[in-house]
Amino acid sequence: METTLQADPLTQATQDFLPLLGTDYVELYVGNAKQSAHYYKSAFGFQTHAYAGPETGVRDRVSYVLVQDKIRLVLTTPLSSNSPIAEHHKKHGDGVKVLALWVEDAYDAYEQTTKRGGKSYLEPMTLTDEHGEVRMSGIHTYGEVVHIFVERKNYKGVFMPGFVAMKSDYNPEPTGLRYVDHCVGNVGWNQMNPWVKFYEDVMGFKNILSFDDKDISTEYSALMSKVMSNGNGYVKFPINEPAEGKKKSQVEEYLDFYEGEGVQHVAIATNDIVDTVTKLKQRGVEFLRVPQNYYDTILERVGKIDEDLAPLSELGILIDRDDEGYLLQIFTKPVEDRPTMFFEIIQRKGAKSFGKGNFKALFEALEQEQALRGNL
Ligand code: FE2
Repeated sequence: METTLQADPLTQATQDFLPLLGTDYVELYVGNAKQSAHYYKSAFGFQTHAYAGPETGVRDRVSYVLVQDKIRLVLTTPLSSNSPIAEHHKKHGDGVKVLALWVEDAYDAYEQTTKRGGKSYLEPMTLTDEHGEVRMSGIHTYGEVVHIFVERKNYKGVFMPGFVAMKSDYNPEPTGLRYVDHCVGNVGWNQMNPWVKFYEDVMGFKNILSFDDKDISTEYSALMSKVMSNGNGYVKFPINEPAEGKKKSQVEEYLDFYEGEGVQHVAIATNDIVDTVTKLKQRGVEFLRVPQNYYDTILERVGKIDEDLAPLSELGILIDRDDEGYLLQIFTKPVEDRPTMFFEIIQRKGAKSFGKGNFKALFEALEQEQALRGNL
């Protein structure tokens, strides 16, 4: 089945009751934030930025804020077993808790979304310190993931009240990661459409692309996906659900090991994917590898590209083209021991899509990994 483009930008602009300026931060609940921070610095080139914990008056948790260009990654760990963060970690392992969205007005974002059926997570509140104020509110989405709306136009501090600037003697070079391109959710059987409706009704998003199980099934593994985008396209949330195949879908494996719905991958944009992926590999980031014969016919499929094919093929970077241009992408292996969350590195050269042409090769590579884990 053909991929369908369904967005009407003009209608979107007039109906945007939830204007978003972008992703504000992504927060992971992890088992050991100190060590996770070291990993994201060493392996991905993030920089130490801010800290909250007992020393700053926070008693139940420690959070490290790492940055790279426009990306803010928050790593949070509980300080006792008697904590919702500890419960979250016990159930899910390391995973994304918060997809925070940058807004002009956090009180209005809450009002607009909750009156349309959004379930409250954080009632509007204002945090203040000597650097100004941050206003925040939040709603639940799929699984235990939440969206926090962050308004920071009157804040000059390092991250938000409660956090202090943190410096480190260990500052590995950045790897060229620039901003969050999209964040993908895995939801349960028959749950894709209800969550598509949630993003439409509650948050004013539009379904801009759809993939059915015929687009993205291999011999064994099938899934369906719909891409939701906000009005200005700054925030994109594809939603996956498993589909019936001969054996277990990759989404089902995620749901089993995460013990519920959650964020499957965070895609991060770079301006130079060959340089970025070379650095990431040198620092120990592991990537999925498609069969080498992928490159035998790739240029016939995608046409002329600016890059030399040799380094792309050597690094295992995938290429796809749509009506507007092409894109280069690669996927890491899961970044924790459960086969759950991973990252995508993407360089867009005009293309606004998500690499549909790579799904088959990619899923075959994923199935090899699933088989090694005994989960196919
Ligand atoms: Fe992606």
